[in-house]
Amino acid sequence: MAEPVPDSASTQWPDSGAEVSLQPVARLVYASISQVDGPVLQEMRRIRDQALPRNEADGLKVALLHIRGWFVEWIEGPEQAIEALLSRVDRDHRHHSLRVLHRSVGQPRLFRPWIGAIVQSDESMVDVARRVLDLQHRHEADRLPEPASVWLSLCSPPAEAMRSPIGAFPRIMLLSAAGSTAFDLTSWVARETGQPLIRRRFAGAADDAPDVESDYVDLPDIGPAGVRLIANARKGLAMGMTHAFLPDYAAVLVLLGEDDSRNQRLLARLLSACRQVHHVPLIIGAGHGMAIGADLQSLVEKQGYPWQAVDLGSARAGLSATWQAVAPALAMLGREDTAATRPAG
Ligand SMILES: Cc1cc2nc3c(=O)[nH]c(=O)nc-3n(C[C@H](O)[C@H](O)[C@H](O)COP(=O)(O)O)c2cc1C
Repeated sequence: MAEPVPDSASTQWPDSGAEVSLQPVARLVYASISQVDGPVLQEMRRIRDQALPRNEADGLKVALLHIRGWFVEWIEGPEQAIEALLSRVDRDHRHHSLRVLHRSVGQPRLFRPWIGAIVQSDESMVDVARRVLDLQHRHEADRLPEPASVWLSLCSPPAEAMRSPIGAFPRIMLLSAAGSTAFDLTSWVARETGQPLIRRRFAGAADDAPDVESDYVDLPDIGPAGVRLIANARKGLAMGMTHAFLPDYAAVLVLLGEDDSRNQRLLARLLSACRQVHHVPLIIGAGHGMAIGADLQSLVEKQGYPWQAVDLGSARAGLSATWQAVAPALAMLGREDTAATRPAG
C-alpha cells in the first residue's frame, strides 16, 4: 500500500520551498454519480491508495471531491496520461454516468499529488445534477477557461442575487490571527445583509487530515460586481485545496489580534502559500492602531505584496464596527482603476 500523502495542517510548513510549476499542462474536470455503499471517507482513502502510485508515475496530480452523491475529479498532467486515466476510471463500478465538464491546457494549480475532500452541504443531489448538466452544456458551447471556475460553479455557485458568474466578482479570503473572528464576522455580515451563509465542511480524505470548515457569503451590493467573503480556518492554509484556489482570491483580509508575534506568523504563512502558487493578492490588515504598525507593512511589502491597513480604532472593536471599517476597502476591489491582482514577477 502506498504511503498516505497528508493533506492537512500537520503537513511540514512550508513545503521545502517548492513552488507550483509555471509550465502549461493539460487539465480536465469530470463529474460522475457515486455508487459507493457505506462510508464515503473509507472509499476515498482506498481510491487514494490505488491512485497515488499510478498518478505519480504518470506525472498526474488530482483533486477528488465528493459532494451530495457526486464525484468531481480535477486532473492535471500530460494529456495522454489524462486520457488513459479517464478510460480506466470510466470502467470503475464505484461510480457511473461520468461526464467531462472541462478540458484545457494552461497553468497548473494542483500543488500536491492528491487532494481529497468530502463536502457536506444541505443541498439535494438534484441541485448538484442541475449544475452538472448546465456545466456540461457550457463545456460544449462557451466553455469556462479555468478548471477552478468549473469546480466552484459546481460546488459553490453564486447566490441568486449576484449579478455575475463565478470568476467575474472578487473573492476575498477572511482570516483571523486569533480566535474565530473571521467566521463570526462572516455570519454577522450574512445576518445583517439578509444573504444566505453557506457552510462548507471539508472532511480531509487523508488519514491525519482534520475536518476544516469554510463559510462564505455573497454580497451583491458591494463593489461593481458584488463580492464573495470566505472565512477560512488558519489550519486550512496548509491544505492542498486552499493552495489550488488561492489564485482566485483578489484579496486576503487578515483580522489582526493583539499578539504581534501571532500576527507576524500568520502573515508569513499566508505569503509563503501565495508565493508557492505565484499569486499576488492585496493583503488587507485590519486591526487597532498598534497592530497595523510599520512592522507588518514592511513584512508584507518587502516580499512584493501590496498592503492596505484598516484601522479599527478601538482594541475591542465589535463586529459591526469592524465591518464599517473594512467594507469600503472591499468595495474598491474589482474596480478597473484598482488592479488588485497581478501575476507574480
Ligand atoms: C471517483 C474515482 C476516482 C479515481 N481516481 C483515480 C486516479 O486519480 N488515479 C488512479 O490511478 N485511479 C483512480 N481511481 C481508481 C481507478 O478507477 C482504478 O480502479 C485504478 O486505477 C486501478 O485500475 P486497474 O485495475 O485498471 O489497474 C478512481 C476511481 C474512482 C471511483
